[in-house]
Amino acid sequence: MNILAIESSCDETAVAIVRDGRQVLTDCIASQVELHRIYGGVVPEIASRMHIEAIYGLADQALAQAGLEREDIDAVAVTYAPGLIGAVLVGVNFAKAAALALNKPLIPVHHIRGHIAANYLAYPELEPPFLCLVVSGGHTMIIDVKGYTDMEILGTTLDDAAGECFDKVGRVLGMPYPGGAALDKAAQRGDDMKYNLPRSKPGENPYDMSFSGLKTAALNLIHHAEQVGEGLDIDSLCASFTAAVSDTLVPRVVKAIEQTGRKKLAVAGGVAANSRIRADIMAAAEKLGVEVYLPPLKLCGDNGAMIGAQAYYEYLAGNVADMSLNAYATKSILGEAL
Ligand code: KG4
Ligand code: ZN
Repeated sequence: MNILAIESSCDETAVAIVRDGRQVLTDCIASQVELHRIYGGVVPEIASRMHIEAIYGLADQALAQAGLEREDIDAVAVTYAPGLIGAVLVGVNFAKAAALALNKPLIPVHHIRGHIAANYLAYPELEPPFLCLVVSGGHTMIIDVKGYTDMEILGTTLDDAAGECFDKVGRVLGMPYPGGAALDKAAQRGDDMKYNLPRSKPGENPYDMSFSGLKTAALNLIHHAEQVGEGLDIDSLCASFTAAVSDTLVPRVVKAIEQTGRKKLAVAGGVAANSRIRADIMAAAEKLGVEVYLPPLKLCGDNGAMIGAQAYYEYLAGNVADMSLNAYATKSILGEAL
């Protein structure tokens, strides 16, 4: 089954064609990052306009690259939530038009389910059940993936997402948007013990997380150093900050593995590209004796292929939509009725 998959929830327009949920025939991305960089973050209105400009050409390019005709497409999939509403709407409207014109099923995909499914592309043998740590610019969650479309959220951030904090701290340090990757590079040169930053333990649920205190502490440290004219060891601040993020994530993942008894541990989302978090997760998995699944860097960030992968399993579960499909800025990964 060839699925044409559309992703436009943030600042990447992406169109991929994925066969049977596992084989990427083509994965085209038009990134807007450079455009948003001068503003230090994504400008939603610009994102929507750029998606409209890119999406038609990108879909043609995807077909050409895969060597397919429109008739070879068996279904159209699209990220319908969550994301910047104007941006998601562009993808949803394009997908609806394409499904209608081709007279093929329309498959709505939750963006975070897509991130998890990136692992199916990287690891053809991976099947649920497994535990997944989702760390992106907008989400930070520990999810028990019981089946391809059956998930339980064990814990979540109660305030900021991990990626949001990387970006905010990176911005204040003068790093180009999005700051995560640059901060990761700087951290590799630094001493992670040099600055003492908090690891918060919020609420009753041992799997819930909080990053806003850590973010504020890091920003205060930077501003204080500036005000008193104190030199700041930026590499070590980045290393100490990243260690605090990892120390917030990894012990909770370990606890979740121990409690659920899952034998497989996957990581997903843009922040899954972080070298320190990858290393700490690998070390933890080895200690626990579980298999670890880390998508290659290009599948960590937003892409269309991950949407095409999840779409196949949504289709098999009967999760298809009609022309009344809408876009949503927020929606739970648990997939309540459309
Ligand atoms: O999953 P994603 O592409 O978009 C969302 O769905 O949010 O994640 C983007 C996030 C950004 O916050 C970016 O700074 C972060 O992933 N990121 C990283 C790294 N590479 C990307 N954060 C830390 N270390 C990295 N190497
Ligand atoms: Zn994403």
